[in-house]
Amino acid sequence: MTILAIQGIRGGCGATSVCAALAWDLAQAGQSVLVVDFSINNLLRLHFNHDWKSKEGWVSTLKQQQSSPSIISYSPGIDYLPFGYSGKEIYSLINDGLFYQKEHQPDKLPGFLEFLSFDDYQWVIIDCSSTLSSLNDLSNSLADINLILLNPDVGSHVLLEQNSFPVNSYFLINGFSPTSLIQQDISHIWQQNLFGLIPVILHRDEAMAESLAVKKTLGEYQPGSLIAQDIHQLALWCQNVDKQGS
Ligand SMILES: Nc1ncnc2c1ncn2[C@@H]1O[C@H](COP(=O)(O)OP(=O)(O)O)[C@@H](O)[C@H]1O
Ligand SMILES: [Mg+2]
Repeated sequence: MTILAIQGIRGGCGATSVCAALAWDLAQAGQSVLVVDFSINNLLRLHFNHDWKSKEGWVSTLKQQQSSPSIISYSPGIDYLPFGYSGKEIYSLINDGLFYQKEHQPDKLPGFLEFLSFDDYQWVIIDCSSTLSSLNDLSNSLADINLILLNPDVGSHVLLEQNSFPVNSYFLINGFSPTSLIQQDISHIWQQNLFGLIPVILHRDEAMAESLAVKKTLGEYQPGSLIAQDIHQLALWCQNVDKQGS
């Protein structure tokens, strides 16, 4: 089992969309994938045609003190676990619980993630939280590969300098428009200097945005689109890194 944590260097970089699209492509290659939502926005589920009014998710089971949340099957090879919907009081429960766990049982998985120890999947993809630092620390520590998404703009470039990243981090450009001169320049600088930059570029493509409108993964919605081809290259890169690592 390989755990892949995907986060944006800031919100809106495309982390959730890439999680869902990548899961689909890996499943097409015969891999079994679980996609887990760690983001309070609770949007990942919508890529898997989940009822938007539903409050179902791991955070709701945490609140009701049930042991394991129910994982939902989407299609052969893809299961997903929504974040769920809950009031803001749950955030301090998560932070306090994870803080206690880190202090007293650092080698044990938190109860709500016990299913990870069953090793049922080839890939677990985590849509990381940019809001709850305790969840972000947890996904960083669980991950075999940390994927940080960058939109090729000046803001991302500055944030790369200002932040530090876990050792097993790789960087991925998303939303590239080939006609933009500033994007060309920034991508070029990163290609020359950014250690860990993945040699795959995800283009800006309306098919990605539209796939959420139709509540499907990108590969189902427009398998022939440019961005679906980019995601396929990313899936091949992931499988290759995984082989080298194991
Ligand atoms: N490559 C892309 N081309 C076009 N739109 C994209 C692309 N990647 C993401 N988007 C759109 O950008 C918005 C933010 O994406 P999202 O996956 O929610 O980002 P995050 O999870 O990092 O906040 C969404 O409307 C999504 O459809
Ligand atoms: Mg998101």
